[in-house]
Formats: sequence, C-alpha cells, structure tokens
Amino acid sequence: MIPPAVIDKIFDVAPIEEVVGEYVSLKRAGANYKGLCPFHDDKNASMSVSPTKGIYKCFSCGKGGNIFQFIMEHEGLSYPLAIKHLADRYNIEIEEGQIDVNELKEEARVKEGVYACLEFARKHFYERLNESQDGKVIYKPYLTERGINQQTIDKFSIGLSGTQKNHLLQEGIKNGYTVQQLYDAGLVKKINDDGGIVEGNLRDTFIERIVFPIFNVSGRVLGFGGRIIKKDTKAPKYLNSPETVVYEKRKELYGLSVSKNDIRVKDEVYLVEGYMDVVSLNQSGVENVVAASGTAFTEEQARLLKRFTHNITMLFDGDTAGVNASLKHVKTLLGADLNVKVALFPEDEDPDSFIQKRGTSEFENYVAQKSQNFIQLITEVKMGESKNDPIKKAETARNIAENIAALPDPLKRAAFINETASLLEIPERILVDEVNKFKLDNRKQKEREQRRESRMAEQQGPPAPDGPPAGFDYVPDYTDFKTPEALLANKKNHQEEDLLKSLILYADREFDEEQNVAQFIFNELEEDEIWPVSEEFAAIFKEAYSYWQEHKVLNELYFIRNASTCKLAAEVLSRRHSLSKGWEENFEKIVKTDEDNYKHEVVQNLNYLKLNHIEMLMKENQEKLQVAETEEDIMICQNVHANLQEFRKKITDQIGTVIL
Ligand code: UTP
Ligand code: MN
Repeated sequence: MIPPAVIDKIFDVAPIEEVVGEYVSLKRAGANYKGLCPFHDDKNASMSVSPTKGIYKCFSCGKGGNIFQFIMEHEGLSYPLAIKHLADRYNIEIEEGQIDVNELKEEARVKEGVYACLEFARKHFYERLNESQDGKVIYKPYLTERGINQQTIDKFSIGLSGTQKNHLLQEGIKNGYTVQQLYDAGLVKKINDDGGIVEGNLRDTFIERIVFPIFNVSGRVLGFGGRIIKKDTKAPKYLNSPETVVYEKRKELYGLSVSKNDIRVKDEVYLVEGYMDVVSLNQSGVENVVAASGTAFTEEQARLLKRFTHNITMLFDGDTAGVNASLKHVKTLLGADLNVKVALFPEDEDPDSFIQKRGTSEFENYVAQKSQNFIQLITEVKMGESKNDPIKKAETARNIAENIAALPDPLKRAAFINETASLLEIPERILVDEVNKFKLDNRKQKEREQRRESRMAEQQGPPAPDGPPAGFDYVPDYTDFKTPEALLANKKNHQEEDLLKSLILYADREFDEEQNVAQFIFNELEEDEIWPVSEEFAAIFKEAYSYWQEHKVLNELYFIRNASTCKLAAEVLSRRHSLSKGWEENFEKIVKTDEDNYKHEVVQNLNYLKLNHIEMLMKENQEKLQVAETEEDIMICQNVHANLQEFRKKITDQIGTVIL
C-alpha cells in the first residue's frame, strides 16, 4: 500500500497544468488552460485543464480525471505505477515495499524484479570493493591513487565486479533471483547469441571492473558503468549497462540523484562528460554536477534538468571530440529553453584531472573565466584565428542561426540575433531570414513527426465521436410521472451515480442552518438505512462517509484526489464551469437548474435512490411471500409489504411535492 500521505504530497507538488503540460501544449483560457486532447485526433483544443481544481477534461472524447488518471491513460500504466511515475518525477520518496507487487500488472512485476536484482548487485559490488581481497589490495588503492576517498565511494556507492566470468550470476542465483531477472537487468549476457537464457549460456556483463551504479533521480539503481583498470587489454575503458526495461539511457543523467539539491540551491548545473568527473568534482565540493552517459544529449534529459534549474554550464574537453560533443548538445539545451554556457578545458585535461591538480578555487575561477555562450563558442571554434574569412563567417553565421532557431522564446531569439550581428558584423535582417528558414525546417520536421504519431494513435482505435459531453443526463429529469416504476425508468437506474454527483458538486455547501449537504445526505442514508449497494458505488459512499466522520469536512477536493471518483469528479466539475457557448445557449434552462436549485437536486436524487431501494426490497419480499409456507411467515411478509408501501408513498409524495 502506498501511504495516502505520499499521494497527497504528490498532489501538492505536481500542478496539473505542469503534468499535462509535459505532453500537451497548453494555453491560458481565463482561469483554466486549454489544449489539444492527446487521447484522440483533436483539432479544436477540446481539453480543458483546471489548475484550481486539479482536473483535466476533454469535452470531445469525454476523458477526464486528476494527475494520476492522466498518467495512467497517457503512459498506459496501472494506478500504483502512475503514482510511482509522478513520485519519481517530483522526487518524492516511495520506500521499498510500499508498492504491493501483487497489485501490479505483469509488466510492472517484471520491472520490480529487475529493480530488486539491480539493487542486490549494487550492494554486492559495493561490499566486494570494500571487503574482498582484490578490492583491498588492487582496486581501492587504484581509487585512492586517483584521489577518491572512502566518503566519496560511499556517496556514489562505487563497487567492484567479480573477477570470474560468472561471479554475479552465481551470487544472484544463490540469493533467489532468476536467470531471467539477471538477464533482464542487463547484469548477465548470453555467451552464444543463438543460445537460450539458461545458466550455462550466460556470463557476467561486468568482469574485473570498478563499477559506478547509475541511479535514477529518485535514487533507484538502473544499471552500471564499469571501468577497467588493466592497461594491457583491448577491452573498452568503460563498459555500460545495456538498455533494459528500467534503464532508458536517453532519460537519465549520471549523478542527478545526489546532486539535485545542490543544483536547486545554486540554481546552476555543470554538465560533464564522464563518471569520474562527476565523482571527483563532488569530492572537491562542487556538487551541482551531472554527466550525460552515452552519446547525444536528449530533450528528455534537458526537461529533467529543467526541473531543478534553467542554468547549465557544459564543462567539456577542449579536444575536437569534446568541442563537437558540446556543439551537438547546445541545440537540444537551447530548444528546451535552458540558458547554456560552455567552458572548454585545456586539451589534455578534463574537469576531474583539473580539479585534482589545481584545487577547487582555481577550478571555479577557470570555469567563470572560460564560460561563454553558444555564439561566442561557435564563433571561436569555427572562425579560429581567421577573423575576416568571408566563407568561414557565413558558415559560422549559419551555424549560429540554426541554434537560435531552436530557442522557443522570441525575445531571446531577438537578443541573440542582435549579439551575433554585432559580433560578426552581419546585418540583422539577413540573420533573421536565416533563422526563419531553420525555424520553418524545424516546424516541417515536427509536423511530420506529429502526423506519424497521430497515425499510430489512430491505429489504436477510433476516437469517440464529437457531441454532447458523456453523462450530461445526470441533471434530474423533471418530466411528468405517474408510477414509481415510471419515475425510476426516467432515472435510467442511475440513482446511485446521480447522488454521488450531487455529493461531489455540493458536499460542503450549506443545506440548512444546521448542516451542509454532505451531512444531510449521510444523515438521511444512515437514518433510513439505505446505502448504495451497487458494486460500483457502495464502497465509494462508505469511504466518503468514514472520511467525513473522521475529518468533519468533505469537499470536491476529496473526490478529485480519490482514485475511484476522480473521473466522475472531472466530468461534473468541469461541466459546471466550462460549458461551451453552444451548450449554454441550448441548455440554458438546465444549467440554471443545476446551479440554482442544488438543494432541490440533492433531495430529489436522495429520494430517487431511496425509491429504487424500496422497489428492490419490495421485490425481494414478494419472492419470499411466494415461497412462504407457514401462516407466520406470510404475515411477516405482508407486514413488511405494508410498511414498504407506506414508505414508498411517503417518498413518491415528496418527489411529487418537490416537482410540483
Ligand atoms: P573518458 O575517456 O574521457 O573517460 O570518457 P574519463 O571519464 O575521463 O574516465 P577516466 O578519468 O579515464 O577514468 C568519458 C566518458 O565517456 C564514456 C564514459 O561514460 C566516460 O565516463 N566512455 C568512455 C564509454 O562509455 N566507453 C569508453 O570506452 C570510454
Ligand atoms: Mn578522466
């Protein structure tokens, strides 16, 4: 069970416009936001998002709910995994074991198994480095020689892999993990590609390497980077875990789980190239640092960083590879609306070696002094010494324009165009044209991608037809009536749902001088011993009732946050506030009725529920009567019938009175 406190915390820190805004571009529309609904092929911005209520609702396809519902729908996750997803995104700790594995879907169960395996491996590697003979006499001295102390080893949980080819495989099996799990975690590989995932055909991924666990932002192990320390070998210096069900390289940044707080405090992050740079800078007191393991820096990584700061300084090697890498990253970072600076290090140094040799303050001076924006960087790199070569100048300007075009903010674009114009002595007008050309290209590219995505979405099923919002018929139907059966027929057997809708809408409004609506409804239900009985609603009412008993408050927020009611809450709450123009014109009367006569509506819905219940009891009683054998039984049934009849008359009279 995930504690309610964790869920509440997520609600508190994850604004719905931000959660939805990650996937949908939202525009303000009065108190709400509007955007294209991601759940069908939407052309008219039918999705409305209410920041004050914390709900979204599509008026076209009818989908709606709270932040978790959105993630469930959008990412195809179960409820517990949607909670986990947002907890991870907003750095809220969920402790091991708080997610009940039995509640999870098959896919989620596999993932949890893989996580457990990785955590086991981390611990095992860490103990090996600190306790084994190899660790003590060979590997830890290597780290010591490189200036890494025990505190840093602990902080980054640095470890040592096995030195035989199936060390971890054996240990994993011994500790209850399956070979499939070890394989899925990327900890073992097949020896023979055509062979199966069986013990005999597997070997450790990391052999004789110092391993750096790669954590996600909330501190779960996703994989490892392993450094070899032998010199006489053809094996690559670093070996990284493969992508797995839990490790998507484009979404992760090495070091973020330990550096995120410092990044937030300093409102700046250093992006470096290697594991050792992160570790070593940390040890020297520069803790706001991450590394993009793997090749290109991705949009997802930029978005991830943006949660902590908008200011990023890349610290890259001054060699050609480092320069090219930094240039490649710049565009992605600018596109994410991050403020980017680059400081290049001397050709034979990296941040690690620099800070180890020269100390923290010299390091900081160097970075401050060498930091330049992308315009200065590109100009320096492309122009070199030849300040007036017209061909190089054109090339440089084009390269800069390409990067400026990635900036989402028009004011920033204008400022950078201005800076480029004066630096390169090129008319602004020409630069503007060039930037626009790139922007057009980018847009075409994006449209192509969107078309591809929507084609894929279509294949997943047709969207619901446009039309009136689903379920609008909850407003009581005040047409004429005769019999109780006719009354119920009009209500389409939606009594329990209708009453819940009234409760969601009006729970904390005044009913009379003594009580609010929630209190009134619960008192009535208690008094007549008539509670909703359907599978769908019984538990919801009971839960709301005990919440009310405990807290003495109940309002729409409760229903928005409650997983079993958030959809319905989104439906009724968003309709009350954002009926489209056409709706108000066509259904003015209904809208008025809804808002003005809420007490009336509450009483009516309660009565319909009671009526339905009485009908049910009468039917049951009739059946009993038919099989009753003794005089006494028959009499009891007849009594019950009479009582129910009387009760029914009272209710129908009341309904009638109210209607008249
Ligand atoms: P470097 O070769 O610059 O290594 O690679 P480094 O970080 O300075 O490491 P030390 O100081 O020699 O121990 C930078 C990064 O590129 C990746 C790793 O992520 C590494 O940290 N890399 C490098 C690999 O993935 N595989 C390799 O074979 C080499
Ligand atoms: Mn290095």
